[in-house]
Amino acid sequence: MGIGINMRVFEEFPVIEGERIKLDRIKSENEEELYEILSDSDVAEYDWFEPIDTVERTEKFINHYDEEYEEKEEITWGIFNKANGKLVGICNLGDFEDSSRRCEVGYDIKKSEWNKGYATEAIKMLVKFALCDMNLNRVEAFVTPGNDRSVRVLEKSGFVREGLVRERDFIKGELVDGIIMAILKSDYCK
Ligand SMILES: CC(C)(COP(=O)(O)OP(=O)(O)OC[C@H]1O[C@@H](n2cnc3c(N)ncnc32)[C@H](O)[C@@H]1OP(=O)(O)O)[C@@H](O)C(=O)NCCC(=O)NCCS
Repeated sequence: MGIGINMRVFEEFPVIEGERIKLDRIKSENEEELYEILSDSDVAEYDWFEPIDTVERTEKFINHYDEEYEEKEEITWGIFNKANGKLVGICNLGDFEDSSRRCEVGYDIKKSEWNKGYATEAIKMLVKFALCDMNLNRVEAFVTPGNDRSVRVLEKSGFVREGLVRERDFIKGELVDGIIMAILKSDYCK
């Protein structure tokens, strides 16, 4: 592997197999299950998006995920329960920064599946993929203050809380701070 980000992951969609979950491309057949996640105001509470209110809007999200992958900007995976094939959440890696080999992670889990360890399992899989397969050096996450569940998931996945970035994001009409957390290749490999 060379010294830059391994962009070959954009040649064929990378499917990642875990113990209980499989990370795979979200397809139109998953539309209704994805709608359940994106229409839930508890899931959207700390995120940039307003809960969506029609299944048709979900199609736009899926098309957007496809476009971002084709443009090599972001990879969004569905988190599928291997036992029954159901969609339990989504997760992504994006904002790839070439020279510093850095990216950002994001994730949302269906509310009925919270507290079963799915986010932690998915993030650990993404960290391994980012640092080992994509040759990145740093994976960042920004969490809105108050989203303690998300902070806990990142801590369990080996991320270190680095500080508070003031008024970083414009979320639902206001500027909000972001807790910055990150994991480095050197943290992961030690
Ligand atoms: C944050 C989120 C992804 C967590 O998913 P999850 O699959 O439930 O996460 P896990 O089961 O792996 O871990 C949850 C942890 O949070 C803990 N937790 C649950 N409620 C909590 C609360 N109110 N405060 C603090 N910790 C809490 C759980 O006890 C568990 O930790 P433990 O294993 O030490 O007991 C999920 O709640 C979600 O989708 N939230 C809405 C979207 C979101 O916030 N995305 C992240 C944006 S940065």
